[in-house]
Amino acid sequence: MKEVKIVVLASGRGSNFIAVKEAMDTREIQGCRISLVICDRHNTGAEKYALENDIPVQIIDYKSLPDRKEFDRLLRDSIIAEKPDLILTLGFMRIISKWLVRDYEGKIINIHPSLLPSFPGMHAQRQALEAGVKVTGATVHFMDEGMDTGPIILQAPVMVPEGADLEEVSNLILQQEHPLLIRAVQMFSAGKLQITGRIVKILD
Ligand code: GAR
Repeated sequence: MKEVKIVVLASGRGSNFIAVKEAMDTREIQGCRISLVICDRHNTGAEKYALENDIPVQIIDYKSLPDRKEFDRLLRDSIIAEKPDLILTLGFMRIISKWLVRDYEGKIINIHPSLLPSFPGMHAQRQALEAGVKVTGATVHFMDEGMDTGPIILQAPVMVPEGADLEEVSNLILQQEHPLLIRAVQMFSAGKLQITGRIVKILD
């Protein structure tokens, strides 16, 4: 079977990226290779891990660029040159332009720290706490042109402990994110995800 070439987009700590890479190293995920990590800023955990593990990394520092258009153009050029089979947006804090989503429809997977469609956008964990929900969670989904609105692949619930603060809830969600993402990448690479409209069917 053809190797699945993955580009990771990340903005921060990079724990989801590291979880995927480690699952590849232990062969929990097979038939995939991360060919490039793109960060939108310098000195992130994702960049550090990529450098330490000989994974090519590119920084497109949005703060040093004149405008959003230029950032989009550079991101587009890098992705087109790489020809990935799958793009993983793992804590990537830039909005992905619509053209990219259209060109890579069904090939961009995002991880989000809530049970979508609740709490899309930024600070999902804080939104959940402020809404006083008793259950929140994590979602892995295909990206579409909306904000965290694409077809859902997998979800995991998290009970919100009484009196929990933002850090505690974020950590509980993160513990669910890693295995969820690994399963989604496994299934994608095995050709088991079939999208029909909004519905993702998991094939046997
Ligand atoms: C994760 O909790 C991820 O779900 C969230 O950012 C964190 C990144 O952590 N993503 C979003 O909020 C996207 N809207 P990581 O850098 O350790 O993977």
